[in-house]
Amino acid sequence: MDLVPGATHSVKISDGNFGMPRSAFVLRLEDGTLRAYVNLCMHLPVPIDAGRGRYFDREGKHLLCRTHGAKYRPDDGYCVEGPCRGMSLERITVVEEGDDVWVLEPDRLRKDAKPGPGHA
Ligand code: FES
Repeated sequence: MDLVPGATHSVKISDGNFGMPRSAFVLRLEDGTLRAYVNLCMHLPVPIDAGRGRYFDREGKHLLCRTHGAKYRPDDGYCVEGPCRGMSLERITVVEEGDDVWVLEPDRLRKDAKPGPGHA
């Protein structure tokens, strides 16, 4: 996966409930390490990207919930501003092997698909 620092990539992680797929996103920090979080805000259970595939704020400093503006730190998912201040995004395991990136949710291992338009 060609994922440079500051870029993100969305990935479906399960079928979810009530016909709503559960998704996550992967990002690479400035130090080169990867993080993956479930794409659900801690304020309300809605995708933080509002389906747009964009996770960072305009400055590229925080992850931004597009619904009510919560801001999360990219390195640990901690909410520093907004209605869920003090809570953290659900972090999931991400493993990089060569050009492949895997995200791990309980009992599931999903291989990355190629980044699509609007991602990374
Ligand atoms: S739904 Fe994310 S801040 Fe309200």
